[in-house]
Amino acid sequence: RLVYVLNGPNLNLLGKRQPAIYGYETLADVEADCRRAAGELKLEIEFHQSNAEHQIIDWIHEARERAGGIVINPAAFTHTSVAILDALNACEFPIIEVHISNVHRRESFRHHSYVSLVASGVIAGFGTQGYTLAIQRIARLIDEDQR
Ligand code: DQA
Repeated sequence: RLVYVLNGPNLNLLGKRQPAIYGYETLADVEADCRRAAGELKLEIEFHQSNAEHQIIDWIHEARERAGGIVINPAAFTHTSVAILDALNACEFPIIEVHISNVHRRESFRHHSYVSLVASGVIAGFGTQGYTLAIQRIARLIDEDQR
């Protein structure tokens, strides 16, 4: 059971970027949290971040061949990318969308998500803890063979 954890643009700056909104944990801390949560559930994970839309799409295609689910924080591409939605729509396994901040309490352009059209579930506003919750949920969906 392999899960891809994918992170979009600017998340490489996590911990330094707008900490009042995103907190002080770095993406390396998030990766460590995800590995710990996955280990407890006997899941394997591939953890990636890119600022480039094409790279995220290529990882989704790779996951489609190799993995049983995707946890994705598409960051700003959430609100703009039909291409990422299309790539996710080509996958037949569960997809969980994560946002560190509560996007619904922020600017109205963050209220719409293309990715939500394909996500089994969405976590927003739980801080970086959202990632470990998403891993727990996706493990359950994979076990129950749900999408
Ligand atoms: C985000 C929310 C997005 O609106 C924003 O563009 C991000 C991060 C979050 O995790 O809260 O870069 O996805």
